[in-house]
Amino acid sequence: MKILDSKVLITGSNRGIGLALAQELAKRNSHLHLQMRSESPALANELLKMGAASVKIWLIDLSDRSQIEKWLPSLLKEKIDILINNAGQLTGGLLENQKIEEIYSMFQVNINALVHLTHGLLPGMIERAHGKIVNHSSVSALMHFPCASTYAASKAAVLAFSDCLQIELQGTGVSTLCLVTPGVQTRMFGEIEKKYGQNFEVPRDSISPEVYAGQICDAIENDQVTLSPSGATGLGLAVARHWPSLFRRAATARFHR
Ligand SMILES: NC(=O)c1ccc[n+]([C@@H]2O[C@H](COP(=O)([O-])OP(=O)(O)OC[C@H]3O[C@@H](n4cnc5c(N)ncnc54)[C@H](OP(=O)(O)O)[C@@H]3O)[C@@H](O)[C@H]2O)c1
Repeated sequence: MKILDSKVLITGSNRGIGLALAQELAKRNSHLHLQMRSESPALANELLKMGAASVKIWLIDLSDRSQIEKWLPSLLKEKIDILINNAGQLTGGLLENQKIEEIYSMFQVNINALVHLTHGLLPGMIERAHGKIVNHSSVSALMHFPCASTYAASKAAVLAFSDCLQIELQGTGVSTLCLVTPGVQTRMFGEIEKKYGQNFEVPRDSISPEVYAGQICDAIENDQVTLSPSGATGLGLAVARHWPSLFRRAATARFHR
């Protein structure tokens, strides 16, 4: 799908991969709709200078279902072409040590809000026979590491949701792209070591958000169904997919209570 002049909504766009995506999409001259939780005063001007055709900021907390419900009627009027469900939260550590409030909030943002926004915007896209839904999953959806139980469950749900939808949408002019994302150097990546590190030797391979944002935009323009990593992480992913018992043995060797 062409990005030039498209109306693109990115959730979680104030930092990390979401911000890098906003910058890359600005360079590719799209109309940007940016969801964030609090004002980022200089951002709109910065993106316009980089080439964005227009910038609109929506202040919404995706952990609150009622805010999404109130937001949707105005969002529908914008006739969004590309929805990028990027916002996410990380939970981790031994399950019994994770806080239940944080688990509920993470599932709400990582999967419920993603499904809610897709459910809201999809009918308009189908009617216009034009649209792209980009869902942010993770290698954790397939590489089941200890200490990632709740987060991995949310990302496996995103992958399953995207796979089912991709088949449902054939012939409608609307398609999905699922991001099976490797380590990317953001605040979340830094949190992984803090949350998992006490019990698990975390793999450290990572790429920059700017490089990854470029790959995501290329995958949108090439109408890819999934974006999967290459290199060492790609190899680990292949082992997890095709030889799960081998993968489990390797993960167990890096884990201690
Ligand atoms: N970095 C990695 O290694 C990695 C690997 C695999 C997948 N991913 C996925 O990539 C996506 C982006 O993550 P990132 O690495 O860029 O992490 P990040 O720097 O921590 O950014 C997370 C983004 O999500 C937003 N967000 C969190 N809770 C929200 C809420 N309740 N309502 C609205 N927005 C909320 C954050 O906004 P605030 O600033 O308001 O908190 C922020 O913009 C996530 O879905 C993540 O799971 C990342």
